[in-house]
Amino acid sequence: MRRKLVVGNWKMHGSRTQVRQLIEGVAAGSVDLKKVEIAVAPTLLHIALAAELCASEDAGHLKLAAQNLVAEPAGAFTGEVSAPMLAEYGVNYVIVGHCERRGIFAETDQVVAAKFKATQASGLIPILCIGESLAQREAGTSAEVVLEQLNAVTDAVGIESLQSAVLAYEPIWAIGTGKTASKEQAQEIHRVLREHIAKSNTAVAQSIRILYGGSVNAANATELFSQVDIDGGLVGGASLKVEEFVSICKSAD
Ligand code: 13P
Repeated sequence: MRRKLVVGNWKMHGSRTQVRQLIEGVAAGSVDLKKVEIAVAPTLLHIALAAELCASEDAGHLKLAAQNLVAEPAGAFTGEVSAPMLAEYGVNYVIVGHCERRGIFAETDQVVAAKFKATQASGLIPILCIGESLAQREAGTSAEVVLEQLNAVTDAVGIESLQSAVLAYEPIWAIGTGKTASKEQAQEIHRVLREHIAKSNTAVAQSIRILYGGSVNAANATELFSQVDIDGGLVGGASLKVEEFVSICKSAD
């Protein structure tokens, strides 16, 4: 039985005050949830504060995720943060390959694979994001595109590395648009991904959590999370509102 996981990706939002309010609010609202695992991903600048807050007794059940890292452990990489640094702050998960990184910051599949590897090398769990554009969906190539993105990573690090990783299917056309993939559309891609992994390793296919991301909100979370191959969500905009995010977490509990 896979434990559901809901991750709030705050993207480049938040002040110190908001980080505090969000963590305290989410922690209080979710303290009685027993089954779902919950993580928040503040900006890298707010990781230290978030780590401190999540270490408190009241918020101890929340996990911490980083939105990005650089693949190298240390060196002359002005402006970057590495996996060992994140590990020192008690980070549990690192989002890699988000379409905003791939698109806006021109991260290639090779860069994503290197970040995935560096994350695991420091004992952290990568949340590997994959997803197709609207043009690719309309051309009927969604499954092909996500499998190519997944293979680019597993070819570099081996399929067994998925044993300690999370996958997130995030169709680009559904991100920040209010246009969610239907539960059938999402389930279909999740099924394709799991079946593809099963061809190489059935145990990994059964255990890996595949999250859905793209305009998840309190109104659509329950039906998305009830699909057999959807193991939780990677939530953007709705994770910045305490009540709505808590409600999404409840849908996964
Ligand atoms: P939205 O939930 O705002 O569509 O963002 C999804 C996302 O990109 C999460 O990583």
